[in-house]
Amino acid sequence: MDIRDLFKDWTALIDQEVSIEGWVRNHRDQKSFGFLMVNDGTDFRTIQVVYEESIPNFSDIQKVRVGAAIMVQGVMVKTPQNAQPFEIKARSITEVGSSPEDYPIQPKRHTREFLRTVPHLRLRTNLFTALFKVRSILHHSIHSFFESQGFVHVAAPIITSSDAEGAGELFQVTTLPLDKLPKKDGEIDYSEDFFGNLTHLTVSGQLQAEIFAQNFKRGYTFGPTFRAENSNTKTHASEFWMVEPEMAFSDLNTIIEVSKNMVQFLIKDVLEKAPVEMAFFDEFVEKGLLDKLNKVLTSPFAVMTHKEAIDTLLKSGKKFEILPAQGKDLATEHEKALVEIQDGPVYVIDWPEEIKAFYMRLNDDQKTVAAMDLLVPGAGELIGGSQREERPDLLEKRMKAFGIDPKSLQWYLDLRKYGSTPHAGFGLGFDRMLIYLTGVENIRDVIPFPRTPKNCQF
Ligand code: 4AD
Ligand code: MG
Repeated sequence: MDIRDLFKDWTALIDQEVSIEGWVRNHRDQKSFGFLMVNDGTDFRTIQVVYEESIPNFSDIQKVRVGAAIMVQGVMVKTPQNAQPFEIKARSITEVGSSPEDYPIQPKRHTREFLRTVPHLRLRTNLFTALFKVRSILHHSIHSFFESQGFVHVAAPIITSSDAEGAGELFQVTTLPLDKLPKKDGEIDYSEDFFGNLTHLTVSGQLQAEIFAQNFKRGYTFGPTFRAENSNTKTHASEFWMVEPEMAFSDLNTIIEVSKNMVQFLIKDVLEKAPVEMAFFDEFVEKGLLDKLNKVLTSPFAVMTHKEAIDTLLKSGKKFEILPAQGKDLATEHEKALVEIQDGPVYVIDWPEEIKAFYMRLNDDQKTVAAMDLLVPGAGELIGGSQREERPDLLEKRMKAFGIDPKSLQWYLDLRKYGSTPHAGFGLGFDRMLIYLTGVENIRDVIPFPRTPKNCQF
């Protein structure tokens, strides 16, 4: 049986024979009896198994070590005096897979840094069992939200010939021999490469999602994205997941509304589906987490222009290493200060046009674009989005200003030629959403197998 089912129906199972299988999280053996704490991953909670000298292989079972896989048959017994309402009194225990003494995950406090060195075993801790369960639930929640809102899902390609952000942070994909590159007129000849042209891993599925929005009205993509950005921070990974909805006949206000509804939906859904895990994070990871999240469900989100944000920072009396300045990007410390001042999520809108991507729509002031970033405590920039430039001449002008050859994105310009619409979309950093939801601060911990500069294990 799954331990999850025992917790669901435990009152009906008292005095009944049950059998479980799982891994030993802790073992306390006494002279004539012992306690095994068993977890099988189907429930966050472990079950206590009590055994006595009467079981046939008593002396072997006494030697079972933490980390071993076992099977237990026994009777469910009520334990009103314990934290858990029941335990299993064993009739027989089989050791399925033993675990030697050097098992790294001993029942004591390990640092997260140490646990990062054993990503194949760190799941077998309370923290990572809770985290990766919530991560899995959140995947489903994303799809539920967009399906409920009538969005059509598209899996944007992972190998692509376009740089969707125009930022040049690309991982190249090639099968050319690196020690003997084919040359033509002194340049590498990509017509000899696997696809016949230069390709890389995608940095964003936005442009393909826009194609879907121009037929289905609402489209979204949700998948892995890759950035060769040498940022060693707690919130940057080289491979991360992004959710990117795109809506035709929409503007900046639409995406502020939809993204707020999405964030609230995701919080609500996870609180509902993972109450035990979320209570664990609240108790052991971030005190006050549940209050923080519940407040987000009912409070309005602050909205301010980039100009107002800089003014607010300058007037705040806070000390900054980098002085906030009009026309300049927000540094991490500025984002942190803004969410502190607002005591919750903040949308910063209308950004200076030079510091944002080429596809963003120029505002009438000619100086700013109709963009938004949603900043939240802990995770910093959780969402980035904008209204898209739907006017072909202006889009082409912006492309050139950003050094992008319009010919390379002819198909993208075509969308403006054939039935162009005002449209808008955004990208939610899935891994940052997990940071926000769980209070676990480092992106290296919310991703099962993180990829960051100089680090690609497994
Ligand atoms: O702001 P970004 O770069 O925007 C885009 O890629 C747009 N194409 C999105 C769109 O409008 N469809 O990235 C969007 C979000 C960020 O707000 C952040 O949450 C996350 O993706 N993100 C990262 N997460 C982890 N590691 C990184 N290196 C990230 N870079 C961006
Ligand atoms: Mg951004």
